Amino acid sequence: MRTPLLELIRCPFCRASLGEEGDAYRCTGCGRTFGRTDDGIPLMLHEGLPGAPAKLREAEGWLERAQAEGWYEPNDTVDAVLPFVNQELGWNELNWLANGHSFQVLLDRYVEGSRGLRVLEVGAAKAWGSRFWLERDCEYVATDILTDPNIGLGRGAFYGDFARIQADGEHLPFADETFDLTYCVATLHHALDLPRMVREMARVTRPGGVVAGLNEGVRGVLRGSENPDQAGEKELGINEHVHSVWAYAAAFTRAGLVVRRLERPDGWPPRPYGRLLSKIPKIGMTLGTLTHLSAIRFAGVSIYARKRSA
Ligand SMILES: C[S@@+](CC[C@H](N)C(=O)[O-])C[C@H]1O[C@@H](n2cnc3c(N)ncnc32)[C@H](O)[C@@H]1O
Ligand SMILES: [Zn+2]
Repeated sequence: MRTPLLELIRCPFCRASLGEEGDAYRCTGCGRTFGRTDDGIPLMLHEGLPGAPAKLREAEGWLERAQAEGWYEPNDTVDAVLPFVNQELGWNELNWLANGHSFQVLLDRYVEGSRGLRVLEVGAAKAWGSRFWLERDCEYVATDILTDPNIGLGRGAFYGDFARIQADGEHLPFADETFDLTYCVATLHHALDLPRMVREMARVTRPGGVVAGLNEGVRGVLRGSENPDQAGEKELGINEHVHSVWAYAAAFTRAGLVVRRLERPDGWPPRPYGRLLSKIPKIGMTLGTLTHLSAIRFAGVSIYARKRSA
């Protein structure tokens, strides 16, 4: 199942549908045009969108960082097993442990046996999640500001055939209620406007659908907004932020989402703070994690929510 691109995408300014015009797309409402990459990825992060220069600068920053740190060249062995590189390749990488655990919770608790869902990922980069959606017969749409063939959406071709669209998570080029499930991994904290990105994810999800933000950076409530670990990335123009767990929870709630589960992305129990609370059936893990993440210095959170039914 794959919806034709022109049926799926909308103008991120006025939400009208688009028509094809040579190598570009033209909005049938406001007349703006949008290009596409040589491999056919529509470029919906238009330079006129709020914050676009900073976001395009971030895309450049990721290339600089990957090249400097030696992970720009793709590695099929690694990409084939993402996010489970610790189990499959014997790595000991905390970030992938957290991505893997959070993603598995999403699949186990919020997808279960469902097949054929329409799924949107925001900030998908290479789109490693695609293989899990394709094997469940889902219609998966990968979006990111980064289209690079090695570390961005271009690399998604390695995983198969699915829609890849350059898009800003704060201005998603889709109609309301298009998706059954919308999620991102380590992307909300890159938003220039966190509540706006969460609102957009909620807007494009159907009532009752799932919205999840996995493995997002969190600071304790008494910490300042500077996380020293992010300094290098910021210098490259990468838009790094660190929010309190309450800022994430408020953004979800105000977007009309009901938070169903909030836990450490690595799955560790909320120790030492919140350990007792986390024993309360059903809501315990969320309460315990809120307490624990309010008190720590810096850590992460994964939030699983459902959009309120109308
Ligand atoms: C830490 S990386 C995570 C990538 C991927 N989700 C993963 O786990 O491998 C953050 C991603 O968010 C993307 N990003 C940053 N700002 C964004 C925005 N406004 N809209 C969509 N994606 C954005 C970046 O380009 C980058 O690919
Ligand atoms: Zn338009």
